[in-house]
Amino acid sequence: MRQPLVAGNWKLNGSRTSVVELADAVASACGNLPIETLVCPAFVHIADVCGTLDGQNLRVGAQDCSDQSSGAYTGEVSAQMLAEMGVSSVIVGHSERRQFYADSNERVAAKFEQVQSAGLTPIFCLGESAEEREAGTTREVIGSQLQAVIARCGVVAMKNAVLAYEPVWAIGTGLTASPEEAQEVHRWLRAEVAAGSAEIAAGLRILYGGSVKPANAAQLFAEADIDGGLIGGAALDAADFSAICRAAAG
Ligand code: PGA
Repeated sequence: MRQPLVAGNWKLNGSRTSVVELADAVASACGNLPIETLVCPAFVHIADVCGTLDGQNLRVGAQDCSDQSSGAYTGEVSAQMLAEMGVSSVIVGHSERRQFYADSNERVAAKFEQVQSAGLTPIFCLGESAEEREAGTTREVIGSQLQAVIARCGVVAMKNAVLAYEPVWAIGTGLTASPEEAQEVHRWLRAEVAAGSAEIAAGLRILYGGSVKPANAAQLFAEADIDGGLIGGAALDAADFSAICRAAAG
């Protein structure tokens, strides 16, 4: 019922030439799979990547956007500007934004709202740190991340959104949540949304992110509430990324 989605977050990597080559390689390897695939280059590479993918079955997303729609906000890029470029989705609340650029729960909620107002789909990241998991506060932490968005936009906003559970301790570390650990959080997140609307929760795609590799993808995606992945390091290699996409296609 929920179509799997695999999204590649290329972060601060690549040159104009290398990202276009990567996008082409991913499109030819994954274009025929019965899943949704998405790649998220840096802002300045979006136009080139959209250009090379024209007509191909691979979508383009952005890694972040402004919490403002326009005005005197030097250096910002609005969701509306991204919509004009041809992206379909925007990642909001990635832990690197939260950690290094002080994106608070409230600012993430404002970004989420901007993305939807521009007609795009937010890929809304949530996750706990190692200390928070050890302290047993995982649900409290990701619960407040989730509720900040629901408080601002309503549970109905989850209808056109994707969640990405990314435990901070698993991102780029080679440590992955076990399929059971991840499933337990995904199930809980879906139940939280179901408290507002069972129908919206049933249709909501919840991705897992954090050191997903070809070797562990199939086991993670086999879990009932894991609907695909948000991939960092492995998304920079077309062969690895397409192997992960094939795992999601089942
Ligand atoms: P990783 O990154 O796959 O390199 O752990 C995931 C992410 O940051 O979304």
